[in-house]
Amino acid sequence: MTFPAAATKADPMILRGGKPLAGEVAIRGAKNAVPKIMVAALLTGEKCVLRNVARIVDVGISAELIHALGGEVSEPEPGVLEICAANLRPMERSVLRDFSGRSRIPILTCGPLLARFGMAPVPSLGGCRIGSRPVDFHLRALQELGATLHEEAHDAHLTAARLQGNKIRLDYPSVGATEQVILAAVLAEGVTELSNAAVEPEIMDLIMVLQKMGAVISVDVDRVIKIVGVKQLRGFDHTAIPDRLEAASWACAAVATNGRIYVRNAQQFPMMTFLNRFRQIGGDFRVDEHGIEFWRAGERLRSTAVETDVYPGFSTDYQQPFVIALTQADGVSIVHETVYEDRFGYVDALQRMGAQIQLYRECLGGLRCRFGQRNYKHSAVIVGPTRLRGADIEIPDLRAGFSYLIAALAAEGESRIANTRIIERGYENITAKLLALGADLRG
Ligand code: EPU
Repeated sequence: MTFPAAATKADPMILRGGKPLAGEVAIRGAKNAVPKIMVAALLTGEKCVLRNVARIVDVGISAELIHALGGEVSEPEPGVLEICAANLRPMERSVLRDFSGRSRIPILTCGPLLARFGMAPVPSLGGCRIGSRPVDFHLRALQELGATLHEEAHDAHLTAARLQGNKIRLDYPSVGATEQVILAAVLAEGVTELSNAAVEPEIMDLIMVLQKMGAVISVDVDRVIKIVGVKQLRGFDHTAIPDRLEAASWACAAVATNGRIYVRNAQQFPMMTFLNRFRQIGGDFRVDEHGIEFWRAGERLRSTAVETDVYPGFSTDYQQPFVIALTQADGVSIVHETVYEDRFGYVDALQRMGAQIQLYRECLGGLRCRFGQRNYKHSAVIVGPTRLRGADIEIPDLRAGFSYLIAALAAEGESRIANTRIIERGYENITAKLLALGADLRG
């Protein structure tokens, strides 16, 4: 089965700015949760049902991957996926080649494939180019669980008869490595205690799914996750959490264009940190039973100093859309990026649009960050408000892509934005949503 993203017909997308975005958009299952839950379905031969699934590229790639591994993926009704991995087969080299470089999801199949076949190839990975993004934590953790890593010239694979629970400590609370350990340890023998784990809401959603499947997992204080291995897991029926990162992106679009956007299905709790910061810069919001509405509290926005961090800190994925809002705020804002060493590459194009943003190698913030003194331009100083001008720009990565759209919509004149397909990796129906909000868009 193929699960293509609803295609953005506009590439390049031509946007004429200066008009507030106003109206309603609906969000569905989180891009950073759904593909991982699909991987969890490989841990059982029983039928799994996943609801609230958005038509985005990353979901499509995960569906193709499961299909290539012999699993079945169907969409019996819009937004609902049925997955059955009863006839799963080991990953062939050709499959590995096809998927390497397209997404970061294949690395997460290591645990399920080791559990089912005692062997898992190690893919080289794709995803957004926002830093080196190694997989050393993943491989080290799997070895600590008893897997053997075999490395040859152009091939690496892991083997294990049955993984064994262990005490593991991550050097940094990596989202992917935490998911790796959880997905590998649920069917391991004995107890695994993972410390310095990431606790993002999307990871909690994955844990909820695994608990439904029969796994025994507890999330203790101080980022410790305990997994008691079980012999087998069953199918699940689950509704994925809504995409908080997309909700925050629309919130930034609302204030940057001085508009008003109701994000249907947005939830307050996972966005608490963002909402505090949003209010601090002069955004306002109203939460109701079905979603959250975002707008500017007054005429003007205020500057701030913010550092990205692992959850419950201010997510690195909020950073780019938030920076666009800060270009419209009064005064000097500082953003210290502490999760990725190279997540300000998108700033060049904004400077061409007239934004006053300077990048610094220093840590401009109180957090001890891994990138200080290491020549990475990972702090930004933004002076606002600036009147942005339309420009021809090319999208380098997903979140930068969305923020270029906001910048173009806040700018005077016309912008031509190329490479819009990247946005479909994580944002569903972007053209239709922008049109519904009154954007002046051609493509
Ligand atoms: N890291 C290592 N070694 C590893 C793994 C990670 O050094 O083995 C480092 C990374 O280089 C990075 C930091 O640890 O500097 C955090 O990386 P993490 O593993 O947490 O990121 P990820 O799992 O690859 C997910 C999201 C990203 C999001 C990050 C952080 C998915 C598919 N991707 O990536 O989402 O930025 O967590 O929250 O879940 C996005 O949505 O635009 C996006 C990039």
